[in-house]
Amino acid sequence: MTTAPHTGDSTGLDPYVWPMTAVLGDDGELHVAGLAASALAQEFETPAYVMDEAHFRSRAQLFVRSFSEAFAAIGGEVDVFYAGKSFLSVAIARWAREEGMRVDTCTGGELAVALRAQVPGAEIGLHGNNKSDAEIAKAIDVGVGRIVLDSHAEIGRVAQLARAAGRSAQHPVSVMVRVTTGIHAGGHEFISTAHEDQKFGISLADGQALAAHQEVLRHPELALLGAHTHIGSQIQDPQAFEINARKMLQLRADLHEQTGFLMPELDLGGGYGIAYLPGEEPIDVPALARDLARVVGQVCGDLGMNVPRISIEPGRAVVGSTTVTLYTVGTIKPVTLEDGSVRTYVSVDGGMSDNIRPALYDAQYTARLANRTGSTELMRTRVVGKHCESGDIVISNIQLPADIAVGDLLAVPATGAYGRSMASNYNHILRPPVIAVRDAAARVIVRRETEDDLLATDVG
Ligand code: LLP
Repeated sequence: MTTAPHTGDSTGLDPYVWPMTAVLGDDGELHVAGLAASALAQEFETPAYVMDEAHFRSRAQLFVRSFSEAFAAIGGEVDVFYAGKSFLSVAIARWAREEGMRVDTCTGGELAVALRAQVPGAEIGLHGNNKSDAEIAKAIDVGVGRIVLDSHAEIGRVAQLARAAGRSAQHPVSVMVRVTTGIHAGGHEFISTAHEDQKFGISLADGQALAAHQEVLRHPELALLGAHTHIGSQIQDPQAFEINARKMLQLRADLHEQTGFLMPELDLGGGYGIAYLPGEEPIDVPALARDLARVVGQVCGDLGMNVPRISIEPGRAVVGSTTVTLYTVGTIKPVTLEDGSVRTYVSVDGGMSDNIRPALYDAQYTARLANRTGSTELMRTRVVGKHCESGDIVISNIQLPADIAVGDLLAVPATGAYGRSMASNYNHILRPPVIAVRDAAARVIVRRETEDDLLATDVG
């Protein structure tokens, strides 16, 4: 855990970190979409994820508009796939679609949620480095718009399952091939997925990716839509995306030269970074879109090729900052450290089961008192959860009002991505609900689990 303390956003709400409609009342209480934190906590209890629907929609619109406009300027088109792994529910899939996005899934479970939301198969993509036959067969059956092939072995498997489903050259299954370009970026090594020593995709090195694409072309029941790449997550450096795009366009040109086949599409994946702490900045989406379009236009011009249809797959950058987790403060315990100083442990009613990211990636979050203005005097605290594990830390080192008390509400922002989606039942904790708020109305989109839910799978 990094130990640099930060002030817990006690003075205001950093607009990059908090939901778009979050404001502080005169009494210092946090409101989202016009609803007071204490009213939300009373109605829905805590912990709860509170999601700003207007913010989700506006981020979705920003991606769709920015990329469509930027690529239209070079005569190209873009599909924006919402990466469901960051957080998917039926309502979210509907919102994404209403805002012009498609849905990227990576398991049968995510696919089932997208289908339940009535996203048409043609607007869904299926990923996964170890897809089961059942997942592939289901994807073929519902006519997903693309299956992203992740290994040499999978090319043959998907072709065989396509044949078994009666697919042929007349009605082929659309596929892409996931390529690792050697570029890796992101906030943490565990989430860098395009360097060579890892499980995803097929390497550009030694002509491996080229060979895989050629192999796909030999299967009449498969239609090669294009190449896919995803270089990591929480990336703040736009250059990483540009260098990656250049490599993918070169691959497209190489395949064309070898086979005469010009891939109609390229998928450049997701990974766009957001702000978690006050003072941090998210990646500038319109600027990124313009830069990427410029590079793609220029390289295609140099290579004398038309511009491929581009897709991108943002997850975190759409949903991350839409959500705050509301907790209730419980046990407060001053602990005297070796150097004689005191650190106050503030326990909340959730923890690593609703946000595993601090434990897993050393991820940093901020927080503020949500039900009132605290004292101006601050104290050094560590926000911890209620799990039987000392690493159950929400925020390692944060200054919070010195008068924080049992029963206060604490809000942790930027928990929309990989929060609920990575939540667990560790210690048989019930996973929190997701409450969508909009125009002063709240709606449960994922309900709180109950002990009956927990026991439903325990067959004795
Ligand atoms: N497309 C593919 C193929 C991916 O593997 C991912 C994320 C995305 C899109 C979306 O990436 P995003 O835009 O959300 O960065 N659990 C980690 C993040 C893992 C990301 C895995 N793949 C975390 O909490 O930081």
